[in-house]
Amino acid sequence: MAELSQRVKELNELLEHYNHHYYVQDDPIVPDSEYDRLLNELRDIEASHPELILPHSVTQRVSGAPIDSFKQVKHVIPMLSLDNVFDQEGLSDFIQRAAKRLNVGADWTDSIAISAEPKLDGVAVSILYEHGQFSIAASRGDGSTGEDITHNVKTIKNIPLALKSDDAPAKLEVRGEVLIPELGFQQMNNKAREAGTKVFANPRNAAAGSLRQLDPSIADSRPLRFYAYGIGQYEHSTPLPDSHHARLMWLESLGFQASPDAKLVTGEQGAQTYYETVMNNRMQLGYGIDGIVLKFDDIATQDELGFVARAPRWATAYKFPAQEEMTVVENIEFQVGRTGAITPVARLKPVLVAGVTVSNATLHNADEIARLDVRVGDSVFIRRAGDVIPQVVKVILEKRPNNTVPVQFPENCPVCDTPVERLETEAVTRCVAGLYCGAQRQQAIKHFVSRKAMDIDGLGEKLVEQLLDEGLISDPADIFTLDKGRLMELERMGEKSTDNLLAAIAKSKEVELARFVYAIGIREVGESTAQSLADNLLNLDAIRNADIDTLMAIDDIGPVVAEHICRFFSLEHNNEVIDKLLTNGIHFKAIEVLDSNTAQPLEGQTWVITGSLASGSRSDMKKRLVLAGAKVTGSVSKNTDVLLAGDKAGSKLAKAQSLGVNVMTEEEALALLHKLIT
Ligand code: IVH
Repeated sequence: MAELSQRVKELNELLEHYNHHYYVQDDPIVPDSEYDRLLNELRDIEASHPELILPHSVTQRVSGAPIDSFKQVKHVIPMLSLDNVFDQEGLSDFIQRAAKRLNVGADWTDSIAISAEPKLDGVAVSILYEHGQFSIAASRGDGSTGEDITHNVKTIKNIPLALKSDDAPAKLEVRGEVLIPELGFQQMNNKAREAGTKVFANPRNAAAGSLRQLDPSIADSRPLRFYAYGIGQYEHSTPLPDSHHARLMWLESLGFQASPDAKLVTGEQGAQTYYETVMNNRMQLGYGIDGIVLKFDDIATQDELGFVARAPRWATAYKFPAQEEMTVVENIEFQVGRTGAITPVARLKPVLVAGVTVSNATLHNADEIARLDVRVGDSVFIRRAGDVIPQVVKVILEKRPNNTVPVQFPENCPVCDTPVERLETEAVTRCVAGLYCGAQRQQAIKHFVSRKAMDIDGLGEKLVEQLLDEGLISDPADIFTLDKGRLMELERMGEKSTDNLLAAIAKSKEVELARFVYAIGIREVGESTAQSLADNLLNLDAIRNADIDTLMAIDDIGPVVAEHICRFFSLEHNNEVIDKLLTNGIHFKAIEVLDSNTAQPLEGQTWVITGSLASGSRSDMKKRLVLAGAKVTGSVSKNTDVLLAGDKAGSKLAKAQSLGVNVMTEEEALALLHKLIT
């Protein structure tokens, strides 16, 4: 029994450790299968010995049954809000007011250390740890009383259930923001759109909605994250660090993720520069923010400044222009994509959203139009976030003019007039005319020549359109019989550019099989699936003739993709184009294969690849190393044998050096592979 209980402790520590690497450091150190194996071992022990379940066991993140109602939690220290400023003048006033109150001069305002952080657009949450254990989590509520949302907050994977410390405080209340990252939000909404369940207007609503559930399994299924930005109650013999920034670092050492991209800056100018930098990179951050927060870093200064009403004098929010704006739908059009998907697009009265003029927004599909009931003439809220195309969030019905009519989804393809189809299991409506449809043909050719496909230099989208319009090509194979004289008749095509183009076309005839398979544009076959097809089936004929079972035996090909592949090669037209491509000179670079009899010279070695490589992608390099017998993992540890450091290698290189791991340049690794394999 003592042994079992020891094992339970060990498993918990291991799983928490792996979890921390996965969710907090973004740097997994074991494969998912190993994590699941250990988790199952723990679950098995707990099932047969419930008395051994630790109160903070990793199995208790979703602690079973839904609750009946929310209990109230009184905040011992109130959760305050922040005052706002909107421009540099406001920022300047904020700093000057503080200086006046502290009775200090210009020296101070120029040199004062300020903790600058993104103002995370989520939900404020407080989490109390007692003697190092997660105890209660509460929402902000009105600032003095919130709701007990422990059951939901415990499911958030980047929050430690036990503090990483041998000397945990009797009480530590960590405050921060719960949010849903942009990518997770899009995936979640896309799934909801397909399933016909609730679609959220923005990540903040989705996060708030998740925390308001009685049943913790809902929060568990959502990609919620917590970022710590402050401390409430604290009871311990050791005092807290005396600067805000040091406190954030301390929270990180306890296993939290601190406010991301927080930085110490100096004075008004430092704060203004930070504001501008963050605003300009706002769309690439991966999570929603509505401004920055500035806090005087020194805690003694904070204490001296104190509070007014509900906000501190030592901190302010510096808000960005809104990410959501209102405008009018001028028209609704239907676009046909490469695979025939028909996407409704709202043409908008141009409006500036977060610094960019927006005049189109996607309406996704017929269900989305029905859900929004959007009509030409409507006033709408639109939202721009991440790299995504702007979205229509909501129609303002009060502003709807009298004469609007519901949108009719077309019954025929707007380009080629073929009747459209919608499968019951799909949200998308499609034109099934394939390459007979002008829109699909054009996009198929653009895809075929694109960088990740055949990579034909100088053959851009405009030129493809021109070639189609002039009747010089009608399918991808025609590209390889283009004639110099005809090309030079085209607008903007001189002799030099024509020669260059023809040379690029000739060069592209010798192509890796995987690229070609990607280029021909089979539905749902992206680069990595194309690579798997090439790696496993080795030649085009085998891929063309593979049946569903053969395809499904390949890792990462499921029934849907297998079906798409079989369907593609069963269509006569596709085979005609492929045969024509082969006749016109397309041929494949040899694939290096090591048969199982070949020695695997790197067997037993663990490699990590980092930085960018001149010879190709990291996944290509990985493949070569794996073929030579190496194991390639994602993070450097003392078990790593070699770190292959490409250009701009960063933290992994530093770590390898600190652990004394052997570091190789790309050239050295290539030379080694060459020596071993030939
Ligand atoms: S500090 C007394 N830091 O903004 C200081 N708040 O308007 C209180 N927020 O309710 C908060 N990011 O939910 C702080 N880095 C950050 C923040 C942040 C977002 C939210 C927080 C608070 C609201 C105040």
